[in-house]
Amino acid sequence: MKHYRTGPETKRLHHRAFTVDDAEAFFVLNSNPDVMRFTGELLVPSLEVAIEAIAGYPDFDEVGYGRWACVLKKTQTVIGFCGLKYLPDLDAVDLGYRFLPEFWGQGIATEACRANLEFGFRELRLDQIVGLVLPDNAASIRVLEKVGMQPEGDMVYDGMKVLRFAKRR
Ligand SMILES: CC(C)(COP(=O)(O)OP(=O)(O)OC[C@H]1O[C@@H](n2cnc3c(N)ncnc32)[C@H](O)[C@@H]1OP(=O)(O)O)[C@@H](O)C(=O)NCCC(=O)NCCS
Repeated sequence: MKHYRTGPETKRLHHRAFTVDDAEAFFVLNSNPDVMRFTGELLVPSLEVAIEAIAGYPDFDEVGYGRWACVLKKTQTVIGFCGLKYLPDLDAVDLGYRFLPEFWGQGIATEACRANLEFGFRELRLDQIVGLVLPDNAASIRVLEKVGMQPEGDMVYDGMKVLRFAKRR
């Protein structure tokens, strides 16, 4: 298995694995209620938990890829994450993304998602990539539509009703 520690480069972003040095940025992102509102996840409560989450994230070792830290080239700071995650319970690879509110509305999620889909299809040779989104997350649904993912109806995932989108190679 090939292990990818860096991901695609876009006009404005680098993608790379999180390290514990990113814990502060990870904490700021994942403890913001506006960011977490439609993710179905609990807020990260402390810097210590952020460090543990990064240090214990298994995907890059076990699967070879995962959700990348998105580094804004202009400032060299981590402004969010985007990337692919293998979901064993669905036997599917999921596109996920999350950015700091001050960067919303500039096409950054769309830019990152396009690059990650291309990475998944060209580099990882995936046949299909899915996107799961809460029905009220209009901005995220719009992003999935803009990157060409097709709606496949709803399903229950992690105890929540979600909309499933998918794109094939
Ligand atoms: C969802 C999210 C990643 C979008 O990031 P972004 O960089 O602002 O996305 P983009 O600028 O590429 O595109 C957003 C699109 O949604 C649209 N949009 C934003 N808010 C909207 C709303 N409330 N209703 C409908 N459309 C909305 C924008 O107009 C834009 O579409 P357009 O280009 O056709 O005008 C960002 O809001 C976020 O991080 N949210 C919190 C985490 C999250 O919910 N992640 C997804 C979990 S599935």
